[in-house]
Amino acid sequence: MTDRANENGAALTLIDLKPGQVDMRAEVLAGLAAVPKALPPKFFYDERGSALFEQITALEDYYLTRTEVAILEEHRQSIAEAVGAESFLIEYGSGASVKIRILLEALRPVGYMPVDISRNHLLEASRALAMEFDWLDIYPTCADYSSALPLPDVANGHRRVAFFPGSSVGNFEPADAITFLEEIAKVVGPGGALLIGVDTQKDPALLQRAYDDPGGVTAQFNRNVLRHINDVLGANFDPAAFEHQARYDAQLGRVEMHLISTRAQQVNVAGTRIEFAEGEALHTENSYKYAPEEFDVVARRANFTVQQRWTDARDWFAVTLYRVV
Ligand code: AVI
Repeated sequence: MTDRANENGAALTLIDLKPGQVDMRAEVLAGLAAVPKALPPKFFYDERGSALFEQITALEDYYLTRTEVAILEEHRQSIAEAVGAESFLIEYGSGASVKIRILLEALRPVGYMPVDISRNHLLEASRALAMEFDWLDIYPTCADYSSALPLPDVANGHRRVAFFPGSSVGNFEPADAITFLEEIAKVVGPGGALLIGVDTQKDPALLQRAYDDPGGVTAQFNRNVLRHINDVLGANFDPAAFEHQARYDAQLGRVEMHLISTRAQQVNVAGTRIEFAEGEALHTENSYKYAPEEFDVVARRANFTVQQRWTDARDWFAVTLYRVV
């Protein structure tokens, strides 16, 4: 599909790889049957969950977003020089944020390909960008992150640069992060690059607070996974009967989020009875934090080597440009 955003707008060409439906029922039941019980973090993000995450990004304690934005703002020129002129930009996620706007202005790529599994969100975000950047050719691609992406012809002969901001890579298990980065290395190919934002290891108290704000927004976000499951699978979780818990595990280098059952209870999920003991934990998310050199090792195993890195004055967050080896 090719579509003009408006009379003066940029061209939008939808590439629809028709990603398979996520089998939420099977994944949720498998997680609840595991010991200890766990749920995949992707189920936080229904409409309410995405709105709560947006609120989190604006919290004083959640330093990640504003620190990354400040790094991109401050170093936009140097990033553009390191990437080089006339690149083709691929973003994992749909570019709704201020971050992609900073990059698009600084890089002025020959094409921009946001990749997202949610078609509606992808098209909405792409149309908004097309109105603002009327010189830009946009190739919204509806796909699973792990698919091999077919690039449009315009990408030929240009440096392909993948952008993966927000420390979202921290929500992968390290082995899965390597597999995902390997896929990106194949997509961008020889000479290509990855610009990635990664949250660093720091004072555990700061990490802990980022995931346990006093206003309780993160707690609502955490409990939202139960509401989402109730809505989609007709389950009967009582979110108020679960307490939000964030804990930093220094050995594993990750912040974990859990929901703790405040009493012994039974929940019906898609016809299956699930028992919770009082105090039992349901593990809902890991957010791995990496010292920059530690993440370089992950990237190296996926065929990337450091080209240049930008950080904030406190080294709380790192934005690194890796190039394919
Ligand atoms: C999306 N992701 C990078 C966030 C993180 O920091 O792990 C999700 C989040 N979980 C709790 N607060 C924010």
